[in-house]
Amino acid sequence: MDEVTTTAPAKAILFGEHAVNRGQAAIAVGVGLHMRCTVRRGGYPYHLQTAGHARTFTRDEVISLGEQVDRWREAAHYEAIRELAARDYFAPAKYIIAHALRNIPTIKDGLDITFQSAIPKSGGLGSGGAANTALAMALAAFASDFDMNSSAQRRTIGEWAYAGDVIAHGGVASALDTQTSLLGGVVRYTREAWGERIPVAPGLQLVIGDTGVRAQTSEVNAHVRAWLAVDVARMRYFEMIGALSDIAQEKLEIGDWRLLGRLMNMNQLVLDKIGVSCPELERLIDAAIGAGALGAKLSGSGGGGIMTALVTDEAREAVAVALRNAGAHAVYMPDIAVPGARIEARQ
Ligand code: MEV
Repeated sequence: MDEVTTTAPAKAILFGEHAVNRGQAAIAVGVGLHMRCTVRRGGYPYHLQTAGHARTFTRDEVISLGEQVDRWREAAHYEAIRELAARDYFAPAKYIIAHALRNIPTIKDGLDITFQSAIPKSGGLGSGGAANTALAMALAAFASDFDMNSSAQRRTIGEWAYAGDVIAHGGVASALDTQTSLLGGVVRYTREAWGERIPVAPGLQLVIGDTGVRAQTSEVNAHVRAWLAVDVARMRYFEMIGALSDIAQEKLEIGDWRLLGRLMNMNQLVLDKIGVSCPELERLIDAAIGAGALGAKLSGSGGGGIMTALVTDEAREAVAVALRNAGAHAVYMPDIAVPGARIEARQ
């Protein structure tokens, strides 16, 4: 095989951001905006390209980055990982390639890797997680024993994709974003069990508003870690969010959207308390609720980025208009619970 193209969807977190990094359950959905990744044999020895960024680098550089990051992870040296994420745009991709090189002896030559994205960057929709998932799947497809239907193979892809998010999120990450992008649908995730698709009643609808404010997940995560370190009793806020995720799972299954919306509002209250909301998010959330959304909260790491509103058919348009009027940088009404990552073409 000389070339493979994969696509992976964006994600929106319905419940559990930040709490998921502290052992709590989270629920996220696949969102119908996609990242496409093409990996081609050739290049010198590796060439990575995405809109606005291009880099060529050697095999040795990838291998030594992989070993260095492994050591930092082992030593919980998050500051070093955060600095790497800030200075090297392609560090997550290189770390995934390092994993592939350790496991797929047939990848000997160079690779040309191109990303094409319809997912806004650093906005909470998981563009990084989708890129990492799409790349991990494409590289795995170069193995001679590759079989998309094997659960062991999917686990490997999940682990490589997650490794990329560990860098992008500044050393500590859950695999919530990458598992949602890999599995699609509606996913319940815990650190112990990883992702599983859960049943959901028909009719789940979201309108997503982007504040246009950008905050790096690695920075917001570091801020949350510092906030929690001040007083361990603050852990109760993350536990509250975990309880909301558990109740939400039942409500999703039976389609009790009214109660689900209220649970989202409670989750938002706790996220605000943790310090990851901001005036721009609150303005959009108020506008959505004012226009008839059943519930609304920030989605992703916060500090800016997107909010998501749970809507009925009747309120959908009005919520979108209200978000635009309240200054949303962009409004999305995408398909929700879309299928997960897949191989689009191979030759
Ligand atoms: C980011 O999409 C979700 C966070 O919980 C970080 C993570 O899970 O690694 C904020």
